[in-house]
Amino acid sequence: MCGIIASTGEAASLNDLVEGLARLEYRGYDSAGVAVTREDGTMDRIRAVDGTASLKLLAELANDKSDGYIAGLGHTRWATHGRVTTDNAHPHFDCTGGLGVVHNGIVENFRELKNELEGSGHVFSSQTDTEVIAHLLEDYLKDGAILKDAVAASMSRLRGAMSFVALDANYPSVLVATKRMAPLVVGSGSHVNFVASDIPAILGKADTFYQVGDDQVVVVSPDGISLSDLFGNPMELAEIEVQWDLEAAARGGFRDFMSKEIFEQPAAVRDTLLGRLNQEGEIVLDEMRLDPDELRKINKIFIVGCGTSYHAGMVAKYAIEHWTRIPVELDISSEFRYRDPVLDKETLVIGVSQSGETLDTMAAMSEAAKLGAKTLVVSNVMGSSMARAADAVLYTRAGPEIGVAATKTHTAQIAALLLMALYLAQVRHSLDPHEVARVFSDMVMLPEKIQKVLTSDASIEEVAQAMVGVKRFYFIGRHVGYPVALEGALKLKEISYLPAEGYPAGELKHGPIAMIDADAVVFGMATRTRLWEKTISNVEEVRVRGAQIILVANEGDSESAALGDAIFEVPETHPLLAPVLDVIPLQLFAYHLAVSLGNDVDRPRNLAKTVTVE
Ligand code: AGP
Repeated sequence: MCGIIASTGEAASLNDLVEGLARLEYRGYDSAGVAVTREDGTMDRIRAVDGTASLKLLAELANDKSDGYIAGLGHTRWATHGRVTTDNAHPHFDCTGGLGVVHNGIVENFRELKNELEGSGHVFSSQTDTEVIAHLLEDYLKDGAILKDAVAASMSRLRGAMSFVALDANYPSVLVATKRMAPLVVGSGSHVNFVASDIPAILGKADTFYQVGDDQVVVVSPDGISLSDLFGNPMELAEIEVQWDLEAAARGGFRDFMSKEIFEQPAAVRDTLLGRLNQEGEIVLDEMRLDPDELRKINKIFIVGCGTSYHAGMVAKYAIEHWTRIPVELDISSEFRYRDPVLDKETLVIGVSQSGETLDTMAAMSEAAKLGAKTLVVSNVMGSSMARAADAVLYTRAGPEIGVAATKTHTAQIAALLLMALYLAQVRHSLDPHEVARVFSDMVMLPEKIQKVLTSDASIEEVAQAMVGVKRFYFIGRHVGYPVALEGALKLKEISYLPAEGYPAGELKHGPIAMIDADAVVFGMATRTRLWEKTISNVEEVRVRGAQIILVANEGDSESAALGDAIFEVPETHPLLAPVLDVIPLQLFAYHLAVSLGNDVDRPRNLAKTVTVE
């Protein structure tokens, strides 16, 4: 999920490029870079690592060096292939240093192409997959192709979802770009034309926006924009209607941040999983910083977190214990630090915190470190206080979350924690390598399945609207359905302000069932796991006591459907991955009910996005 911006034209400037990059920083902040062509036919490149710092540096350099700018490429990187180093930062050049490329996505067959290119004498200066594009283009140009044809020919040899923009110093004002299953737009302004991965990067700078379709090539010069397919057949440019101001653009056209973030979940989970499997089919967690030898010595794990992060941690407990057989204790952060936990240097304490700044979790982690345990934080914020203080860090790649009610960071947290559980199983050999690969391939299918769940938005909205006036909600589930039930209840409480409780379904008859009557609505987590029958019996128990029933069930499960007053369908998946899908209808339900009640879903009363007090 890198960010791309490129510009050309009389009014184009390096400052615009850097400003656009700052707006794209959420797409990746490992490093940033620009390459510009100048009137004298040369190409300059500036690259720097370390997120915000690199952008500040680029901005300073932009002020110094913007004279003679003809066209430029800008990139903000989220590393997939190759560590976070200046050499791996984009733009990447060919052997001549006169052709630059910025790229977003993954070239899946880059190893095979790299071998071939190195075999024919190309010299690579990075470990990235991107650099093969520059050298491929170089070969086609050497054979006499124009850049547009070189881009088309190269794209037909590249496998994977990606977009890229190329700039050749020999034709210093011409940008050529292409895409496949990755975002790319073209913008036109007064004496300036742009290519960018996202509209917000060029909003206010361009006034007309055009789509680029998959496997199309767009040529953008100061004189105009032309589009063709990979065979050179001209295509019609289709305008995109954009009526957003910057603030609306930040919301991507959604009514509010919460709905935008709910709908960003396929990307949040996909990006969190991207680049985590190597050619040998092994999980790689580069930024983890914990040595596999140390991980083999761990004999106990604690997971700490607050609110939604705690619920993600609860899902992880089931997965870690099942896949690694290491005992896992789960704690609310504010309880952990005062309960005198028993830890030593063979204990791993995992702190789950999207912000990486929640005081209670931070304090729990420093208590753990003080007691000699190893610490690992799962965070969505690069360089957050907890990420810096912990022995190891695993980042979710959900992009910034603005809505106070966590949604996309939650599913990304579950994905990251499950990855970590699989990684632990891999290094400790507690799971067959084929099983690790099989579960990972199920994980890779999750984004598509999330997308499918999101198509039920309108029907979930109808159910939610019909629930205005209900005074009490209960959520029940077993096994990993239990944390989903807790999260469903928390979402509803946070933004609708209505009483909502989550329970392990088997616990109902030990007390809570006394509250059930015809005024209650009960959500049952009824996807087909080995505990389905038991959950369904619990659902029956509340149904006969008059409660209205809403079930989260698998698609086409008529037996479950027969028991619910409403059914929220989700696709089947590996049972331990199910929370990533099952929680989504509950987020949508909470969202629509809160909107129907007239509540501000992005800024619910009494809450703060990050709680930095005890
Ligand atoms: C989630 O919707 C809440 N806003 C809240 O429970 C949150 O998850 C909790 O405060 C923890 O925050 P963190 O992940 O930033 O540590």
